[in-house]
Amino acid sequence: MPFNVHPSYISDFMALKGECKIVCLTASTAPMAAVLDEHCDLLLVGDSLAMTIYGFDSTADMTLDIMIRHGKAVASRAKTALVIVDLPAGSYERSPGQARRSALKIMAETGADGVKLEGGEQMVKQVAALTSAGIPVMGHIGLLPQQVRPPKLFEVMGRTEESINQLHLDMEALVNAGAFAIVCEGIVEPVARALALSCPVPTIGIGASCACDGQILVSEDMLGLFDDFRPKFVHHFSNLKGVIAEAAAFYRQAVNDGTFPADNNLYAPAAGVSEQC
Ligand code: KIV
Repeated sequence: MPFNVHPSYISDFMALKGECKIVCLTASTAPMAAVLDEHCDLLLVGDSLAMTIYGFDSTADMTLDIMIRHGKAVASRAKTALVIVDLPAGSYERSPGQARRSALKIMAETGADGVKLEGGEQMVKQVAALTSAGIPVMGHIGLLPQQVRPPKLFEVMGRTEESINQLHLDMEALVNAGAFAIVCEGIVEPVARALALSCPVPTIGIGASCACDGQILVSEDMLGLFDDFRPKFVHHFSNLKGVIAEAAAFYRQAVNDGTFPADNNLYAPAAGVSEQC
């Protein structure tokens, strides 16, 4: 295998189901991964970084190479949390072979513990191709952000009989194909609850139900840094946008009034010796 998956990491994660609530967040940079690692069971390098880091209006323009760059940064700092990298749109849907090539590249080049892809029944061949190659796969059902392109809006799932049946079929298909966990996004509460209670692998909710085995949020949403778009399921646990704006204003003030840089930020000359930083 051109990559290493620690044998117990995935089974330890799966064993959390029923033991405690599973805490997951997205991370896309090394410093963020270093801070979040000890607080999370899983860090997802989600392709939502298209919006939160790059300012795109959808995940459409994400590439495998961009995801690999961020995956590598996050994996380099995550010591205990599982690191999962999203397969970006266009890198897996065409065929199981395409999915396998893309996932192997992610695994070989990032040091991540697995990949995530969106879709249930329709992606079952892709998921099976990856799991049979030893690549841990996290599924993603319900609202699938990669299929939402502006002006199309995010649509909550599970409001019709047909949609409810499809969600159950999707979950079952992913479990049978060997997914080790399933993200349930934007699914009405009682339906998400029923899915979580009947699913043998951990379900991770986002805009779904408290009954899911764990929860995930996009970190920039959770931190109150990104508010271009705020779905109902987002809660700001901080106001990082305000904190950054305040620091920038203090900095501007200090530069303008000449109090920064102060003497202790400057290098003094020492005859004949070049000073270390
Ligand atoms: O890309 C992402 O951040 C995700 C989460 C919303 C689950 O897929």
